[in-house]
Amino acid sequence: GENRLVDRFGRVATDLRISLTDRCNLRCTYCMPAEGLEWMPTEEALTDDEVVRLVRVAVGHLGVREIRFTGGEPLLRRGLEDIVAATAALPQRPETSVTTNALGLARRARGLAAAGLDRVNVSLDTLRPERFAEITRRDRLGDVLDGLAAARDAGLTPVKINTVLMPGLNDDEAPDLLAWALAEGFELRIIEQMPLDAGHSWQRDRMVTADQVLGSLREHFTLTPDPAERGGAPAERFLVDGYGRPDGGPARVGIIASVTRPFCGNCDRTRLTADGQVRTCLFARTENDLRGLLRGGGTDDELADAWRVAMWGKKPGHGIDDPGFLQPDRPMSAIGG
Ligand code: GTP
Ligand code: 5AD
Ligand code: SF4
Repeated sequence: GENRLVDRFGRVATDLRISLTDRCNLRCTYCMPAEGLEWMPTEEALTDDEVVRLVRVAVGHLGVREIRFTGGEPLLRRGLEDIVAATAALPQRPETSVTTNALGLARRARGLAAAGLDRVNVSLDTLRPERFAEITRRDRLGDVLDGLAAARDAGLTPVKINTVLMPGLNDDEAPDLLAWALAEGFELRIIEQMPLDAGHSWQRDRMVTADQVLGSLREHFTLTPDPAERGGAPAERFLVDGYGRPDGGPARVGIIASVTRPFCGNCDRTRLTADGQVRTCLFARTENDLRGLLRGGGTDDELADAWRVAMWGKKPGHGIDDPGFLQPDRPMSAIGG
């Protein structure tokens, strides 16, 4: 077959997101209930070697160029450094990144960088300790800030901050977060909340929109659209006039407006769950099993073919606005965001 992952709408997936675990050590109210969820049994999850095998197929046979490790919380995966090292050692070295809540990152940032990790994105919704404890149900803001500083010191840059704003909880905090991110040299991205919570309680009119965020930021900052090519990136970026990065480049802020300004037409993503299922979209209602093929002795070519077949079934868009829209069965924490 062809050395690419194409769908019937002509999109090419060059960016692979792999969920390494569905577990998490925070309990963000918009994601998980206080008691957690029923976790995936360990034997269901791909082993480190199985993950690396599928990475090799994606990079070597299917033209994938960027690998992002997600969760749940990927730092809870003990083999993360080994998986990163094996990925970075591939002949067509892909770009590697992790999306994390940064708990424990202070201790692991240097090791991850040494293993070949290129960069990290960190989820952080507030800079106020009481709010952090209310939103995440854990009093760990200090650990997150330590993790962020360690990531920057280890060169896991650019470090990006992912913030979900919620009415009445932190929707007044965008300007403070941006001022802080500019001072610290992090790139802030504000994300529209999507219907992916385990409790199925998302409501469109309870979502802080991109326009609202831009309005509140523009009361304090001058933003101009970033002329740089966006490609398949979820974030629409703006230059923050009058500010620079520590490395001399221009400072930016991003808005990820998945709901009000969907970017599905340019999607360049494919996903793997921790139990080895291909998901063609966050909102896909079907998955294609690679674990069975892998454990049944399938060859690299057979795995690549199965992955191509999966991508051919990718829907044109998320369908959040369609009349019969149904949330996917897996919550965000088991898909990886
Ligand atoms: P960068 O390459 O650093 O820009 O990463 P990213 O923004 O693609 O990934 P990250 O894991 O930091 O995700 C940030 C936000 O974008 C999260 O809320 C994700 O759920 C969301 N996101 C990531 N990929 C997709 C996607 O394919 N579709 C949609 N709608 N949202 C996505
Ligand atoms: N909608 C949008 N983003 C979400 N995240 C978690 N839940 C949602 C949601 N329902 C974000 C997290 C993390 C990233 C992977 O996704 O804040 O940064
Ligand atoms: Fe791609 Fe689905 Fe995300 Fe749209 S919602 S950008 S199709 S993964």
